[in-house]
Amino acid sequence: MPHQQRGSSQKQSGKQEHRGLMCGIIGYSGPRDAQQVLLEGLQRLEYRGYDSAGIAIVGAEGLQVFKDEGDVAKLMSGMPLIEGHSGIGHTRWATCGRPSKENAHPMVDCDHCLAVVHNGIIENRGELKERLENLGHTFTSETDTEVLVHLLEEYYHGDLRQALKRTLEDVKGTYAIAAVCQGHEEIVAARKENPLIVGLGAEENFLASDITAVLNYTNKIIYIEDGEMLSLTPQEVQIFNNKGEKINKDYIIVSWTAEDAQKGGFEHYMLKEIFEQPVSIHNSLLGNFDKIMAGELLSAQDISSIKLIACGTSYNASLVGKYAIEALSGIPATVELASECRYSSETKEDPLVILVTQSGETADTLAAARLAKKRGQRTLAITNVVGSTITREVDEVFYTQAGPEIGVAATKTYVTQLMAMYMLALKLGKSRMLRRDEIHRYTHGLKAMPRTVANVLAKSEEISAAVDMLTEAQSVFFLGRHINYPTMLEGALKLKEISYIHAEGYAAGELKHGPLALLDADTPIVASCVWDMSYEKMLSAISEVAARDSPVLGIGIEGDRDLEAIVDQAICIPEVEGILSPLPLTVVVQLIAYHTARKRGCPIDRPKNLAKSVTVD
Ligand code: F6R
Repeated sequence: MPHQQRGSSQKQSGKQEHRGLMCGIIGYSGPRDAQQVLLEGLQRLEYRGYDSAGIAIVGAEGLQVFKDEGDVAKLMSGMPLIEGHSGIGHTRWATCGRPSKENAHPMVDCDHCLAVVHNGIIENRGELKERLENLGHTFTSETDTEVLVHLLEEYYHGDLRQALKRTLEDVKGTYAIAAVCQGHEEIVAARKENPLIVGLGAEENFLASDITAVLNYTNKIIYIEDGEMLSLTPQEVQIFNNKGEKINKDYIIVSWTAEDAQKGGFEHYMLKEIFEQPVSIHNSLLGNFDKIMAGELLSAQDISSIKLIACGTSYNASLVGKYAIEALSGIPATVELASECRYSSETKEDPLVILVTQSGETADTLAAARLAKKRGQRTLAITNVVGSTITREVDEVFYTQAGPEIGVAATKTYVTQLMAMYMLALKLGKSRMLRRDEIHRYTHGLKAMPRTVANVLAKSEEISAAVDMLTEAQSVFFLGRHINYPTMLEGALKLKEISYIHAEGYAAGELKHGPLALLDADTPIVASCVWDMSYEKMLSAISEVAARDSPVLGIGIEGDRDLEAIVDQAICIPEVEGILSPLPLTVVVQLIAYHTARKRGCPIDRPKNLAKSVTVD
C-alpha cells in the first residue's frame, strides 16, 4: 500500500490523490516574480513526463505567453524576462494533437486576452469546435483544449469565474483547468477526474497538479475535489461546489519530501503506476471507445486475417489481442515477435498488420512496420506516445491514453494495450458476428473495469502476504490457459524483470511435455483459474503440480471453494466475463511481482540491464 506521510499537524483527512497521469499544471498569484515561480514549478513537474511546456503571465505589458515543444530548459533558454506576479504554466504530454509549439499550452483566445491550461480529455470537442467556428472563432492548434479558451472567450463578460462555470456546462469529458485574463491577478480553476491542489501562502497562493510543484513555497495544501471550482488571488482562495455555492475547506499540512510527493506517497513509481490503472482504463475508454465504434479506425476494410507484431510486454498484450479478436470477431489472428519478423516468409501475407509498442520507438517493431509497408500490408500502430516514430511509419494509429510511465517495467501501458485489443475486437466483431446484446454485455464489462480493477488493488496487502512463498525461490512457473496463458507469460516476465527470480510462463497443457520434470517442493507455481472454458482443465493442472509437492498460489474468482481446496494460497478477483479476465488478473500478477521484488530489496523502478525504450535491434 502507499506509504502516506501526513503532517502531524494535519487539520483534516483530505482525500489522498493517487491519480496524477498526464501533463502538469502550475499557477501562482502573489508578490513574487511569477515567471520564476512558474518555471521552477514546471521543472518540479518534469518527472510526470511531457513533450512540451509553456507559461502565461499577466503583467504590465498585458498577457504574455511563451511555449515550445521540448523540455523546460529549452523553453527557458529562449525566453526574455517577463514582469508580472500572476500566471499559469503547463507541461504537456500529447494526447490530442502531436507535440508541437502550436499544440503546447497555454492556449489563448482570438483577442489574446485569455489563457487556459488543461489536463484531461474534452470528448465533445468536435461539435464545440464547429459551433465556435460558426461564431467566428479561429483555431490555431490540433488540441481539444483550444475549444475551452474560445468558449471562455464567448462567455467572458467581466467575470472570469462565471465564464468558466458557463464553459464547463457545455463540456463533456474530464479536466483540471486553470485560466487567467489580461489585467487581472485572479486565477480561476476547476477539476473533474484530474488532480488539482491549492497551496496556501502568506499573501500569495499557488495552484498545481500535485504538491511537488509548490512544496518549495508552502506545505499548506487543499485538495480540490471533482466538481469544485475556485478563484485564487494573493489575498484569498474561494472554493465553490458543483452548485456554485461557496464552501469552506480546511487545509492539511504535508510533511513529504519532493521525491515522496512525486511518487504520490507510493514507495515506487511502479506501484504508483499499478494503482493508476483504474484511471488509465477509464481514460483509454473515454479517449477511444466511441470514435472506434463509430468507425474511425479500420473502416471499410475487408480484413481476412490479422498479424500482430511486438516485443516483450507488448508481445504478451498482442497474444491477449489474438484470443480476443478471434473470439469476438472470428477473424484469424497470429502474433509474431518483432525481432523474428525479418525472417518470416512473404508467401502468406495478412492484409492487416498491427504493431504494438508503448514507446513507439522500439527498433525491432519499427523495422517490422517498415517491412509490412514494403510488402504492401495495411498497418495500424497501438502506442502510448503521440508523435513517436511508429506513428509516422504506419497508416493508422490507436493511442492507448495510459499517460507517461516512469517505472521501467510496463504496467499501466500494458493494461491500456489490452483495452485497445478489446475495443478493436469489439469493433471488428460488430460488423461480423456479434449480436447487439453481446456488444452491450462486453461494453458494460469494459466500462465496469475501473471498479473491478480498484477492487483488485484493494487486495495489495493480501497479495504482499501471499508472496512469501515466492521470495526465496530459484524458479517460479506461471501457468494459464487460453486468454490467460499470455497473462501468465506477462506475470513471469514481470517477476524475472524486477525480482531477478527465474520465472517461466507456460500454457498449462504443456506441463506434461517437459516442465513437470522440474517441479518439486522448492519450485512454486502461480496458476490462473477463472470460470471460463479452461476452468476444469486448469483445476486438473493445479492438482497435477500439487501432487509433485510444488506450492501453488492460485488466482481465481471470489467464492471458488474448489480452487481454494487444492491450492496453498488463493487470491480471488471479482467475477468478470472470462474473455475480459486478463485485465484484473494482470493486476494480480503485477502486484505479485512487485511485492516479491520489494521483499527481496530489488531496485524496482530501475532493474539492472534494462531500459525503458529499446532503440537498438
Ligand atoms: C517489460 C517491458 C518490455 C517492453 C518491450 C517493448 O516490462 O516493458 O518488455 O514491453 O521492450 O517495448 P515497447 O512496447 O515500447 O515496444
